[in-house]
Amino acid sequence: MKSIHIRTEIPGPRSRALMARREAAVPRGPHNAVPVFIAAADGATLEDVDGNRYLDFAGGIGCLNVGHQAPRVTAALRAQLEMHLHLCFAVTPYEGYVALAEKINSLTPGGFKKKTILLNTGAEAIENAVKIARAYTRRPAIVCFEDAFHGRTLLAMSLTSKTHPYKAGFEPFASDIYRIPFAYPYRGAPGSTAESFAHHLEDAFKRSVAPQSVAAVIAEPVLGEGGFIVPPRGYFAILQNICRKHGILFIADEVQSGIARTGRWFASEHFGIEPDLITMAKSLGGGMPVAAVTGRAEIMDAPGAGALGGTFCGHPLSCAAALAAIETIEKENLLARSADIGKQFEARARSWQTKWPLIGEVRGLGGMCAMELVRDPHTREPADTETREIARFCYEHGLILITAGTFNNVIRILVPLVVTDAQFAEGLDVLEAALAHAADLKPVAASAR
Ligand SMILES: Cc1ncc(COP(=O)(O)O)c(C=O)c1O
Repeated sequence: MKSIHIRTEIPGPRSRALMARREAAVPRGPHNAVPVFIAAADGATLEDVDGNRYLDFAGGIGCLNVGHQAPRVTAALRAQLEMHLHLCFAVTPYEGYVALAEKINSLTPGGFKKKTILLNTGAEAIENAVKIARAYTRRPAIVCFEDAFHGRTLLAMSLTSKTHPYKAGFEPFASDIYRIPFAYPYRGAPGSTAESFAHHLEDAFKRSVAPQSVAAVIAEPVLGEGGFIVPPRGYFAILQNICRKHGILFIADEVQSGIARTGRWFASEHFGIEPDLITMAKSLGGGMPVAAVTGRAEIMDAPGAGALGGTFCGHPLSCAAALAAIETIEKENLLARSADIGKQFEARARSWQTKWPLIGEVRGLGGMCAMELVRDPHTREPADTETREIARFCYEHGLILITAGTFNNVIRILVPLVVTDAQFAEGLDVLEAALAHAADLKPVAASAR
């Protein structure tokens, strides 16, 4: 039986009515990728208010690795509801927070003693990681990367690279931030290697900021919003060695790449590194908002008592959900499933690539997979309008997916890892039809874009 079932035009009448209310009541800042309102969700499917059923390859931007309504998560939430809701960890602690910290400490890479603080969002995790790094090193500067995304709060936005829509008009940014090119093999200089990409950091120490002023280098092991860019395997080990030489901390932002997305608990493991600090959020809560910073115990203890936290951080419901989500990943072998999804995607996408030059690059790590679309495989001109058109075609035909990339030309897959093989193939069939449709489109003149 097919999972996708479209029974009205898209968006349907109820979605259109709600969109009119949304436009009147909510500003345009919080954008909607898809103009349909969802009424119910289960596993890898969504049902809208008009009774249309979709396959969900976006997972709330990578927050549903364990699937919508994961049974362990909903059971844990019900049990927690019977006990207590908000208490505030800063007033009266509760076991769930500590149990989740212990669990995360055991799952993150690094054989050293670790500690974890809980926050609400990815951006908050970034803010706290930077505060902790500064408190420990007593240095001000942070080095970050082109094409990085770290969130929308002032400091996280300052660390983010892409100007539109994230930064333009929100100046001035936080200070003491230095940006270097990331290891982006598809768009790097021909012949670039892990070493030559990593050399940008040493260059920056001569050109922009003295290493003894740098508290931390922060990087996403696989760029998320930047377009699922996977650096060469040796890259982060070289970067971390350079950091160590200068007493600089290495922060891995695993908000999007963590919690089983890439076939490991954390993408850092693929690169054989043990970051000093790791940030995580998104799929940690199995659909509930919770984020964390985990790191070497002596670094995490640098800020004094009361210096970190927030009213709702580590909410009891979120802790219960996160522990259940982690158990789900363990019991349902979702690490192996993620690797398998990545292989299935790669096989299909590589076959499409032989047919359509629109597909410039197929890349990814496990279930964090993507295609970069270009108008011409030689010039690599980003195919942004085509990418947008593919996403539109997909949701109109029952597949919800999202795009990424500094140049808005990447189709990314963040499907819940509980998707069945049949569902995944059904979704990829829609994507294939969308590619065929886009390949037929006439090239859009630059002036018309
Ligand atoms: C790598 C990365 N860091 C930080 C963030 C910010 O997370 P949040 O939206 O929860 O603030 C995101 C969000 O997409 C992200 O992908």
